[in-house]
Amino acid sequence: MSFKIIEQAQARLNRSELAVPGSSPRFFERAAKSDADVIFLDLEDAVAPDDKPKARKNIIKALNEIDWGDKTMSVRINGLDTHYMYRDVVDVVEQAGERLDLIMIPKVGTAADVYAIDMLVTQIEDAKGYKKRIGFEHIIETALGMQNVHEIASASNRNESLHFGVADYAASTRARTTNIGGVNSDYAVLTDPDESGSRDIHWGDMWHYAIARMVVAARANGLRPIDGPFGDFSDPEGYKASGRRAAALGIEGKWAIHPSQIELASEIFSPTKEETTKAKRIIAAMKQAEREGKGAVALDGRLIDIASVRQAEVMVTKAKLISGRNRTRGRDSK
Ligand code: GLV
Ligand code: MG
Repeated sequence: MSFKIIEQAQARLNRSELAVPGSSPRFFERAAKSDADVIFLDLEDAVAPDDKPKARKNIIKALNEIDWGDKTMSVRINGLDTHYMYRDVVDVVEQAGERLDLIMIPKVGTAADVYAIDMLVTQIEDAKGYKKRIGFEHIIETALGMQNVHEIASASNRNESLHFGVADYAASTRARTTNIGGVNSDYAVLTDPDESGSRDIHWGDMWHYAIARMVVAARANGLRPIDGPFGDFSDPEGYKASGRRAAALGIEGKWAIHPSQIELASEIFSPTKEETTKAKRIIAAMKQAEREGKGAVALDGRLIDIASVRQAEVMVTKAKLISGRNRTRGRDSK
């Protein structure tokens, strides 16, 4: 283990993150009653330029007046290359900063982008005398952001999560895609011919490098890596496959661009009962080994050591957060 200790961002459930356009207040109440872990009210791409001032007002009113329960609330501001951004931050944080947990910064490209927003938010928080500090979620969705993802991840102690914004990332890298977050049949290889001369096509995951790179930057800085949108909301199987392959790489949650995707994300990113039970057994077995002065033990015929315990602890912590949330919503906890 390195001498450097990685500080972990505040622990929050972030299995699903529901996107709600700030210009559509008719969706707000329904979002507040949904099972989403995090909601981001959008001022950026879902809002047309002429609607930005009204959307800001809607969001401020909604943050102050709607009962969002125990949800983590975020606002996606406009990019630093637009003149909307400063007013998004100033108006929303000044007028609704107490119910705001996170600010989502789109198209972040450099550590200096993070520094600039940090400075602005710090001044507003100080001037208003807020006790709580607002965290940052960054969308990595440009070639520049992906190049600088490591510096971005460590640019502020407000940072909580990195999100892979596949739609803008495809535009920025000029990747050829068909639908948002989906696959492209051109990203494939042909197997060698078998005896009968027939060949198979093996599709690949064209987003593998980007997601894996972002996961490393997030985890090396104690942040949550989150996968972004899957555009075809009439394809739950496609969404689940996309979420599962991201989870396999260490991703902790996924955007829901439609309410129907919330439940899918919760299912994919919650540990199962079996996984939680196993994790608890690993922790117990390791405690027993420690008492006996052993560094590693076998459980169910497999070696477990300190690294297995750390993984198990992460899982048990998440299971506790989930069961706490289920209790406050009057549901049986898994
Ligand atoms: C999200 O903002 C994306 O561009 O995918
Ligand atoms: Mg985007």
